[in-house]
Amino acid sequence: MNNNINEILTYHNETKHAPSRYARSLGYMDWATQPDPFRSYKGAPSLSLPMSLNNTTPPYHLIFDKEVPAAPLLIESISQFFQFSLGLAAWKQAGDNKWALRCNASSGNLQPSEAYIILPPLDKISTQCSLSHYAPKEHKLEKLCEFDSTFFDTLEKGSFLVGLSSITWREVWKYGERAFRYCSLDAGHAFRALQVSAMMLGWKVQVVSATKDSELSRIFGFDQEHRYIKEEAEYPDMLLSISPLQGQKISLDTLIQDLPKEYKGSAYILSRSHQAWEMIERIEKASFSDSVLREEVSSLPIPRLPSLESKDLVLKRRSAQMMNPKNASLSQEQFYTLLNSVKESMDGFENSANLVLFVHEVEGLEKGLYLMIRNKKHLSSLKRLLRQSFVFEEIREDFYLLEKDDFRSRAKSISCNQDIAADGAFSLGMLCEFSTQIEEYGAHRYKELYWECGAIGQQLYLEATALGIAATGIGCYLDDTFHHLLGLDSNQFQSLYHFTIGRAIVDDRLMTLAPYHHLD
Ligand SMILES: Cc1cc2nc3c(=O)[nH]c(=O)nc-3n(C[C@H](O)[C@H](O)[C@H](O)COP(=O)(O)O)c2cc1C
Repeated sequence: MNNNINEILTYHNETKHAPSRYARSLGYMDWATQPDPFRSYKGAPSLSLPMSLNNTTPPYHLIFDKEVPAAPLLIESISQFFQFSLGLAAWKQAGDNKWALRCNASSGNLQPSEAYIILPPLDKISTQCSLSHYAPKEHKLEKLCEFDSTFFDTLEKGSFLVGLSSITWREVWKYGERAFRYCSLDAGHAFRALQVSAMMLGWKVQVVSATKDSELSRIFGFDQEHRYIKEEAEYPDMLLSISPLQGQKISLDTLIQDLPKEYKGSAYILSRSHQAWEMIERIEKASFSDSVLREEVSSLPIPRLPSLESKDLVLKRRSAQMMNPKNASLSQEQFYTLLNSVKESMDGFENSANLVLFVHEVEGLEKGLYLMIRNKKHLSSLKRLLRQSFVFEEIREDFYLLEKDDFRSRAKSISCNQDIAADGAFSLGMLCEFSTQIEEYGAHRYKELYWECGAIGQQLYLEATALGIAATGIGCYLDDTFHHLLGLDSNQFQSLYHFTIGRAIVDDRLMTLAPYHHLD
């Protein structure tokens, strides 16, 4: 086994939460060093994007239909694309405290994900190809470089690239060593947010496969180390191709060759001082590697009931702080709509995550532990590896009852004692094929597994919003307590993200302000 894979497995084990020991962190909030959630580049020319809040968007249930006509690539469509994916969705205020919320959910709302866009020459942006950073607070682009290239000549007209990256420090500040996991989950949320926003415009988002992190670093300029302070470095997550057409083959050689060696702008400092976590440096280094091509799969759209206009839905998506146990019940139709919305692959590659559900209140289903299979190849291994007393009764295709019981108190204690896991209709853990995936595809796969789980999370949030119910991601859970409940004693499968769905109790003391009121 190579060293990087060893590092990954060590990091994963060391950052498990256990009842007797949570993963190492500062243990308190050092407010004086709280990182700025908005990165900005000093000296980079900025370009305000026109607001898209008044644009008309298709109804949410129709955007998954492959027939939404593709919008032309214009500054206005780029604006809408970012506004309804990574843009601000609202501000909340309690007393003197005011904080921004975005369309993409983020662990602790610390927002480690950043986005960059590479465009062909485009009216009102540049007469040349350009690379810009998206700055959501002002809804603007910060132009880092302009260059001539034939790169876009090889792609379908209207195509462009978006890069997602993470500033680990933003999550490390609060969560210490477990922070790398949260950054990767957040990248998955951001990916799905971009994909859904693209669907509103009839565009297709694909993860560019078999990329090297060293190449992505070069493309986004993260290897120009003097533009960042070391503690606030960014590392690349994924490169996305956005196009009116699915299935483009992309070679980055020409682009890399044509990009200038030096970009404009150096990153403003986010915090006054920093904590150093050796474990974080090690996992960043070990996972900084190459993605390996995996089996591609196609997916089918699922039928949905009529819903809100898609922009209203993504702006309305919020995490429930409290669930109402007295009004938790969901109909079977709502329940299966939620599950079906995440059944198919979202990135075009074979699924790794299956869902283990604590069903508390779903009409017509007994309370109990259930399994939804997202990759049929995993069923026989799971039957062999999970607790032998589980009944594996097939309720419908790919959905099995494992054990009848009231799991509310166990769901709560596994979720670091958070009531939201017990007070909703159901909560779940995303059980991923783990060690074999990392051994087969290498260290990079560790991040990708979290991206898949984050994307499932973002989609569940949106689907819950469409149904008028509420959801919350759960990054704080006791890893091996959950695995032991399932009877798992190896790391062939590991749960990488938890989630809860129910009906929220809304905190009326918080004031809600419009997303861009500060620019009026
Ligand atoms: C990866 C991830 C993990 C999260 N973990 C928790 C959690 O354990 N408990 C919780 O109450 N909220 C959790 N959340 C919800 C975030 O706190 C929430 O997304 C953030 O405050 C922003 O609020 P919004 O989702 O309403 O935009 C998590 C969100 C994400 C994306």
